Amino acid sequence: PFDWYERMRDEAPVRYDPERRTWDVFRYEDVKRVLDDDDTFSADPGEASDFVEPEGPGEGLILDTMLFEDPPRHDELRNVVDEWFQPRTLADREPHFRELAGELLDDAVGPGGEMDVVGDLAYPFPVTVIGELLGVPSSDHDRFKTWSDTLVEAASDGESADAFADRQQRTQMEMGQYFLEMIEDRREDPRDDLLSVIVTAESSEGETLSREEALGMCILLLVAGNITTTNLITNAVRCFAEADGDLFDDLRGDDRALTGAVEEVVRYRSPVQAMSRVATEDVTMRGETVEAGDRIIVWLGSANRDERKFEAADEFRPDRSPAQHLGFGHGTHYCLGAPLARLEAKVGLSELLDRVENVRLAETSLQPTRSSFVYGVESLPIRYDERR
Ligand code: HEM
Repeated sequence: PFDWYERMRDEAPVRYDPERRTWDVFRYEDVKRVLDDDDTFSADPGEASDFVEPEGPGEGLILDTMLFEDPPRHDELRNVVDEWFQPRTLADREPHFRELAGELLDDAVGPGGEMDVVGDLAYPFPVTVIGELLGVPSSDHDRFKTWSDTLVEAASDGESADAFADRQQRTQMEMGQYFLEMIEDRREDPRDDLLSVIVTAESSEGETLSREEALGMCILLLVAGNITTTNLITNAVRCFAEADGDLFDDLRGDDRALTGAVEEVVRYRSPVQAMSRVATEDVTMRGETVEAGDRIIVWLGSANRDERKFEAADEFRPDRSPAQHLGFGHGTHYCLGAPLARLEAKVGLSELLDRVENVRLAETSLQPTRSSFVYGVESLPIRYDERR
């Protein structure tokens, strides 16, 4: 999409697409402005003039989460789990995350010298981590994966819109049912996990969370961090393998450099390419009038390649420290899970680097992810020499 972004940044940086009935915003400065201004640009899809209330049971759950609420409600919801996602809280768990990544890699890496980065590491790792943080038994992690995939998927080839909606709804129901049971369980028997934190907020005096909001929170945490982190880890291996010299060698054993390189991956191959907002009042941008109730897509992936902001924006420079990229969003909704995603990427990649060297991409044509808003590939086969 990067050539398209560049053309749009130059020729139509803010434009209306009548087919999708939405505005598109492409330049860094404009994307940041939208994300900075919650009053004018709401995160709540319900503000859109063409919004249709979801009908099926469970379908609206995700709409009641922090992701789609504006302040002040947003802040109350986010505060319930905020502490758990702080870097210093997560640091305690790093050794355990390392073990989990290590186990996956010990199964995958062998004298054959081939693996699929997605299937062997980037896909199972984040779902296991969030499963453990939430406190779901590891025997349920497979079900988990299927759900979180279904919810972010686009319709598969040949599937009708109705069949797709049915499938989505069934998944919502199953997941809702599952988490309801877990919530009941934690109510009786609270533990040191995120589910218990959510349950306590739900049942505490003053009802911080309704039952629906507690369910929505579980689903959001499960969905928001899986396919995104999968693609961060995968895009990182792809960037490293394509870089000049042997970046794997340079980064091995150097967690600081690795952390910086991961940040550049978030800029250069942003796992989340776009976010959506709704104008709450008429507003002018680059001479165009966006009306109250209009939907707006801000293209993070384009902002992150804007040559007006980043020098040689189309180059992957692992030592650039692009602190101001918008790959995790910006402002009120800045990604809650960013510290977790960074930690998972660092741990997963450094465990990989410990085990392999001379890494090459094994295929030249890669299949893009089927999910509509996530940027990455379905699988990433690599060849390597095993380190002994
Ligand atoms: C919000 C990206 C990983 C949980 C966001 C937003 C972006 C983003 C762009 C802003 C949404 C908006 O402005 O509307 C990413 C990327 C990730 C990642 C690129 C991985 C590379 C995670 C993880 C979790 C998580 C691991 C948690 C387990 C959330 C939540 C929000 C959010 C709860 C909503 C925050 C709010 O509304 O205040 N993420 N995310 N994300 N992310 Fe992430």
